[in-house]
Amino acid sequence: MKCAIILAGGKGTRMKADCPKVMCHVIFRPMIGYVTDAVKQAGVEDICVITGYRHKEVEDYLNSIDSSIKTALQEPQLGTGHAVMQAEKFISEHSGDEILILNGDGPLMDADTINKAYDYHISNKNSITVISAIVDDTNGIGHIKRDEKNNLLCIVEHKDATEQEKEIRESNSGCYWFNGADLKYALGKITNDNAQNEYYLTDTLEILIGAGKNAGAYVVENSEVVLGANDRKQLNDLNTIMRKKINDAHMLNGVDIPCTDGVIIGKDVKIGSSTVILPNTIIIGDTVVGNGCTIGPNSYLDNARVGNNVVLDNCKILESTVEDNADAGPFVKVRANSVLKKGVHIGNFVEVKNSVVGEGSKSAHLTYIGDSDVGSNVNFGCGTVTCNYDGKNKYRCKIGSGSFIGCNTNLIAPVEVGEQAYIAAGSTITDNIPEKALSIARARQVIKEGWVDVKKPYKEKK
Ligand code: UD1
Ligand code: CA
Repeated sequence: MKCAIILAGGKGTRMKADCPKVMCHVIFRPMIGYVTDAVKQAGVEDICVITGYRHKEVEDYLNSIDSSIKTALQEPQLGTGHAVMQAEKFISEHSGDEILILNGDGPLMDADTINKAYDYHISNKNSITVISAIVDDTNGIGHIKRDEKNNLLCIVEHKDATEQEKEIRESNSGCYWFNGADLKYALGKITNDNAQNEYYLTDTLEILIGAGKNAGAYVVENSEVVLGANDRKQLNDLNTIMRKKINDAHMLNGVDIPCTDGVIIGKDVKIGSSTVILPNTIIIGDTVVGNGCTIGPNSYLDNARVGNNVVLDNCKILESTVEDNADAGPFVKVRANSVLKKGVHIGNFVEVKNSVVGEGSKSAHLTYIGDSDVGSNVNFGCGTVTCNYDGKNKYRCKIGSGSFIGCNTNLIAPVEVGEQAYIAAGSTITDNIPEKALSIARARQVIKEGWVDVKKPYKEKK
């Protein structure tokens, strides 16, 4: 059985964040979420995450994504080796298995690399396999030291390295496969005799080699997968790489992104072919977009369900559904729990909240539809407002199919408009309207002839 320990106890001082480092976001999602995904995708069945600094935040997040993930608390945080020691019980349970250890702040590590390293580890009967990469910037990493015959010797942390050792470009990714029993043995031998007075996990390499065990390094083909983030600049680099990776995958699937400027798509988002994504569009969460849609420019979709042939221009769609052939925008906000049914047309400056708008209904401009059940083929005049809140409670409006709501109508909820009813422009509707009725709820117009000449309301022009 494959199992994994993920290190997530560190504070990440250089990040200057008020959350644990692994909770810092890459494409709107904590880094550790990518690591648990990669590990699971690689076929790992049992996961233990080492938590420490502000551990509750990490534990709550992990629980929200997969309640089967175990955690072990490291307090205080005395280094990566010390972190792994806290998983003593987990390691004992898996002493007959191969254990993957990796950093929670390396979101680009992927299942393919993990599995290739595993195959290398097994075929060489290794006690330890370090995943390494040849990198240009070796600042802060562990250098992989080899003898003249290219055999592994040890890992020297940058802070402990001599000038000569700092020249070594092969670096430790912080990701390893260990034989369970050998890991347990090596952890018992680690000391904190180094520049940082920490218990380094990296010391296990030299310890196992010294005990006559097989050790190897699996050098990755694409060194990006080993990148981690220690500060906000590196976090931005990871965002850039991840963003490109995701956008490229969608393009290869037939999504048209003519210009990727400002296009940010979350890892779990699904988009159908021949859909066009225009600049400055952010699509995140569990959003699913169908085929042949045009999304953007300047749109934001979070946990949205979008059908086929939908047009969303300058829209914000949150936790809502937009069915086939509907179109919205520009400047439309659809808030949680709303459904725009097939062929709905929502125009500029319209907000929909917690409402169902039935098939073919239209609201072309300047309208608020809140807490409402709207039938099909309803026409909302410009400036319609559902007055759903009395300052204390929210109430619903029911608007029957085929009804016509005149411009500048206020519907004081709770109220019902019957099917095919008409409302005269400027009405404030407080009572239910029967079907096919016309309702006029406004003061009758008064005309005062010659009033201006009598009252002289304007200053006389000289
Ligand atoms: C570590 C490796 C280094 C490697 C680099 C790759 C050691 C000693 N060094 O260094 O060889 O090149 O990763 O990124 O292992 N953590 C804990 N508890 C602790 C300390 C850290 O859980 O007490 C966690 C952190 O939250 C982080 C991970 O371990 O997720 C790595 O810690 P970090 O301090 O970033 O290690 P590096 O100095 O980068
Ligand atoms: Ca690091």
